Amino acid sequence: MKIGILISGRGSNMQALVEACKAPDYPAEAAVVISNRPDALGLEYARYSGIPALVVDHKAYASRTDFEVDLHAALKDHGVELVCNAGFMRLLTKGFVDKWRDRQINIHPSLLPAYKGLHSHERAIAEGVKITGCSVHFVRTEMDSGPIIAQAAVQVLAHDEPGDLAARVLQAEHKLYPHALRLVAEGRTRITGNIVTIDGESTPSPVLFSPGLYPPG
Ligand code: GAR
Repeated sequence: MKIGILISGRGSNMQALVEACKAPDYPAEAAVVISNRPDALGLEYARYSGIPALVVDHKAYASRTDFEVDLHAALKDHGVELVCNAGFMRLLTKGFVDKWRDRQINIHPSLLPAYKGLHSHERAIAEGVKITGCSVHFVRTEMDSGPIIAQAAVQVLAHDEPGDLAARVLQAEHKLYPHALRLVAEGRTRITGNIVTIDGESTPSPVLFSPGLYPPG
């Protein structure tokens, strides 16, 4: 499955997807990386990896819709079948989202539907949650919403600063996103309303307790 990866900045999740795509048995191929910002750091890595890396600069357009016409055309030109938002920080209009319905996924650094939008880690820490994490979901018009494909849980530790937590969640993101993309690219995801079921789902992981059980066991 040919994927187009949308970024706005550092692009570490894009990098995780591109690395996963290099494995011979991985069911997706990175066809293009597109940034809405010319200064996005991730563009360099994409070019270094030999993947077409384009800028569709939103500031060069009079309206969101005009920007999206060119974004859509660039994805189509590269034969993209699935769009992967990887730190793409631009809201997309209903027109674009509908064109890619069930063919566009996003990663967000929280256990959705909690902490949509910006500053997820600051808010999780401020509210004293003990477990947070990250989610990969199909994109719908409302920001950071849509049928959830996969999630990973991460402990919030005492004295965590937002940056500490963000770094641990990011490590989980880099494992979760390639995993979720594999499920989609293998055609194992079924969407019914807002619910995704996975064909041949694997055995459950152990429960994560936070704080940990004492004595451990
Ligand atoms: C990641 O933590 C991603 O989950 C988040 O932006 C970061 C991008 O980092 N995305 C969102 O908040 C989307 N609402 P990256 O550029 O290194 O992948």
